[in-house]
Amino acid sequence: MENEVVMEDRLIAEEIKKLKEEKNAIILAHFYTRREVQEVADFVGDSLSLCRAAVNSKADIIVFAGVHFMAESASILSPEKLVLLPVPDAGCPMADMVTVEALREEKEKHPDAAVVCYVNSSAAVKAESDICCTSSNAVSVVNSIENREIIFVPDKNLGAFVSLHTDKKIHLWPGFCHVHENIGEEDIKGLKNLHPGAKFLAHPECRPEVLSFADHILSTSGIVKEAGKSDSTEFMIGTEKEIVQNLKRKYPDKKFYPVSKKAVCYNMKKVTLESILNSLENMEYEVNVPEHVRVKAKKALDRMLAVSGT
Ligand code: 13P
Ligand code: SF4
Repeated sequence: MENEVVMEDRLIAEEIKKLKEEKNAIILAHFYTRREVQEVADFVGDSLSLCRAAVNSKADIIVFAGVHFMAESASILSPEKLVLLPVPDAGCPMADMVTVEALREEKEKHPDAAVVCYVNSSAAVKAESDICCTSSNAVSVVNSIENREIIFVPDKNLGAFVSLHTDKKIHLWPGFCHVHENIGEEDIKGLKNLHPGAKFLAHPECRPEVLSFADHILSTSGIVKEAGKSDSTEFMIGTEKEIVQNLKRKYPDKKFYPVSKKAVCYNMKKVTLESILNSLENMEYEVNVPEHVRVKAKKALDRMLAVSGT
């Protein structure tokens, strides 16, 4: 049975490869997507590197193996390319925790504040913001701004992490990622008891109590890089658990432990090989942003890319 599945996957992967070449398409995938999806991707990365890959690609079509806000960012930055999201309802619940209307009300309460918007947000919210950030550049983005006050949306945990590395006044938004929010201190303490020599690499979407145990707080790409260059051979990984499989394949001589087996992003898992094949065959599902929103959202993304270098 397992062999049949592998065989089937191989056939679909070959079809995908053929169609990619025929149509001058590339597949961009996030680290949280399924292993077989990452294997057909031209590039696998964190949100920032995926934005850069979208901008720098010469392809006509980008198939985005990730969630909606990621495909939307690619479309905002590269309007000349056709951006496809294989599963239209692969969303990010945290991105839905801030709306334009609510953000406008907050701006009225803090008229001197600049709005820094995590890329895990809608195009409309980006358009309402001064600058975007990702988990890998949030501190430098905030410190690049002249304003002394910042409204940081939507992730309260990333915002709280940033506030430890700046003297600016940060107004936190009550948004969070359920995958990271559900990682508890008990998970960390339990695993530390079992593997006292392991380094703890954590994503900044984790709660501050959890981050207080971390040796390094990094984006997903940052976690992969740190695990590679570190002299340590054992790591506890505080983020979505798919990345642990990726790390084990990349660094077979090192040991990786997910801090929680429940840390799964079901939206990322909606993207399958079958849905990618359908996407390339039928040019589904096109991601479009109304031009007046796109232009403003692009300003906020471009400003971020200028801070972190393109
Ligand atoms: P990264 O940019 O670190 O990959 O994070 C994206 C994300 O959605 C984390 O939950
Ligand atoms: Fe959104 Fe969390 Fe999934 Fe990242 S892991 S896409 S923040 S729900």
